[in-house]
Amino acid sequence: MEILRTVSELRQWSRALRSQAGSIVGLVPTMGALHAGHASLIRAAHAACTHVAVSIFVNPTQFGPNEDYARYPRSFDADCALAKAEGASVIFAPSVEELYPAGATTFVEVEELGNRLDGASRPGHFRGVATVVAKLLIATEPDRAFFGQKDAAQVAVIRRMVTDLRLATEIVVCPIVRDPDGLALSSRNIYLSSAERSQALTLNRTIRHVKALAAAGKRGSGILHDAARKMFAEAPEIRIDYIALVDWSTLRPAEIAVPGTLFAVAALVGSTRLIDNTILN
Ligand code: PAJ
Repeated sequence: MEILRTVSELRQWSRALRSQAGSIVGLVPTMGALHAGHASLIRAAHAACTHVAVSIFVNPTQFGPNEDYARYPRSFDADCALAKAEGASVIFAPSVEELYPAGATTFVEVEELGNRLDGASRPGHFRGVATVVAKLLIATEPDRAFFGQKDAAQVAVIRRMVTDLRLATEIVVCPIVRDPDGLALSSRNIYLSSAERSQALTLNRTIRHVKALAAAGKRGSGILHDAARKMFAEAPEIRIDYIALVDWSTLRPAEIAVPGTLFAVAALVGSTRLIDNTILN
């Protein structure tokens, strides 16, 4: 499995493949510190494509000034081994200067959507995400790119961007991978103390409870929000960032949950920000 460091190497790799009849190029963008959630994306890409590029790049522009860019976990060698085992054909691991040439001033802003949910509490976050994903999609021109439902607002922003920029890539969304106790896997879970880790289970408990209420016909936004707040009240150490019932494509608040409505939560457990969500039936 080759490791590519420059955009032109990535472009050459992809162009050579796309000129071959029958080849399907997949891209799995990541920030490394790969876990079973990332592995499921690479596996899905391997099953649906003939060749898969996994990008590993801790993207500075999507971190706020007081966020964890400098201490974000980095485990490049283990990441390469995992990606290879799951069927990656190449790793794309550029430097910051390679993706952001000196003096770079061009950014992709997905208006409105980019300021909702995580975008509201992390100003500029989705501008950074959209910018780096646009660079990766433009360089690779993959047939398919794979993202996790775990970052549901990110999926909405990327889908909007791909539509708006008329990019030719199909966006494939893969289910949330969880630990056996229900905690959604995240590269940031390693920050949690063992006490915080058990508090963190409140996120998943809450979304499961809301899903059950909605399935039982309680579909009003007010009822579902109240029920979620009650669940969080049982874990007073957790600070709620948002509880949201929204249309998954626009991220606008929904009054009533209909099939496909996104219910999402974000909360601070200690100093670690965690997110979780479910798509209601
Ligand atoms: P990162 O947090 O590394 O996640 C890379 C991909 O893995 C994302 O699509 C994310 O939704 C998915 N993922 C993370 N945890 C998951 C889980 N428990 N189950 C399923 N999928 C999971 O998301 C990013 O990086 C960045 O914002 C990126 C898109 C790479 C742009 O920099």
